[in-house]
Amino acid sequence: MGSSWGLLFLGFLSLTAVALGEDEVGAKHSGLVMDFYKESCPQAEEIIREQVKLLYKRHKNTAFSWLRNIFHDCAVQSCDASLLLDSTRRSLSEKEMDRSFGMRNFRYLDTIKEAVERECPGVVSCADILVLSARDGIVALGGPYIPLKTGRKDGRRSRADLLEQYLPDHNESISSVLDKFSAIGIDTPGVVALLGSHSVGRTHCVKLVHRLYPDVDPDLNPDHVPHMLKKCPDPIPDPKAVQYVRNDRGTPMKLDNNYYRNILDNKGLLQVDHQLAYDKRTRPFVKKMAKSQDYFFKEFSRAIAVLSENNPLTGDQGEIRKQCNAVNKLH
Ligand code: HEM
Ligand SMILES: *[C@@H]1O[C@H](CO)[C@@H](O)[C@H](O)[C@H]1NC(C)=O
Repeated sequence: MGSSWGLLFLGFLSLTAVALGEDEVGAKHSGLVMDFYKESCPQAEEIIREQVKLLYKRHKNTAFSWLRNIFHDCAVQSCDASLLLDSTRRSLSEKEMDRSFGMRNFRYLDTIKEAVERECPGVVSCADILVLSARDGIVALGGPYIPLKTGRKDGRRSRADLLEQYLPDHNESISSVLDKFSAIGIDTPGVVALLGSHSVGRTHCVKLVHRLYPDVDPDLNPDHVPHMLKKCPDPIPDPKAVQYVRNDRGTPMKLDNNYYRNILDNKGLLQVDHQLAYDKRTRPFVKKMAKSQDYFFKEFSRAIAVLSENNPLTGDQGEIRKQCNAVNKLH
């Protein structure tokens, strides 16, 4: 009985696979699938979700890091966990580059990896753990649940040399930001939605002081300036003091559409945040997202899914790293 139902189910699956395959003609095939570990480690996604919940309870800001990780790993050539590699004698880590400034909490990803390894050693990639922790982190922050595919392998080298090519700087033009995202398949509303991530977390004074000293940037809302000056009192911030401004003073712990109201109100911290509200290509979407959280979440979900499928290593490419901060030793 059981097995004939099983066969029927398999038959149904292959029929839907064919139908989907035909539907997707012309679409880029990432080689990823939903629930890749359903046979090899059925508990994987649940373990990750439980760990994210547990760690979030203790260290709220680790959720900001999981969210930022998916951008910094996936936008740079491939979702291959290259972001997580430490420097070696032969190569510099991505984490140490200026574009990664302020990234933190990598040790909590190691905690998740260790929990998964205890259950299924050598099965689940760091790249998938990075992506799934971002998905569950987004939920912890009050954002949407986004179904994401898995099956990524881990890369064997740092992409530090490529960061500037793929990750925009804080003061980059919107044209260049749109170009960089469009190269990985993310359209204008997608870019506007992804920048909504700056609705949580912080920005260090080093990335802001050029808007405050020697003269205050006239684009900044004068009501917001005293707070920024108080948080960043020195034109050249003391590198040892952790000085920063919260990205969204209103709801700093919530991934919500308050970001769009802030930037329309000239309270965007980074120059790109401010420009997003004033460039004629992006402004209509900023206004729409400021009005509708549903619309923001819809576009955000779509863009995160595209980002998460950027050029993964699959099949016999790459490896399953034992530890996320170093490639496996070859024997
Ligand atoms: C034009 C594109 C972007 C630029 C130039 C940019 C730049 C920055 C900068 C300079 C910071 C402050 C870091 C610090 O001082 O600690 C930051 C923070 C952050 N970014 Fe972005 N970002 C961009 C897009 C994104 C995207 C697409 C995401 C997520 C999908 C993201 C998520 C975050 C998060 C969550 C934080 C707060 C991190 C924390 O508090 O630890 N950013 N970003
Ligand atoms: C952007 O800021 C960096 C410093 O963070 C500076 O070196 C660079 O010249 C600035 N670029 C533009 C286009 O203003």
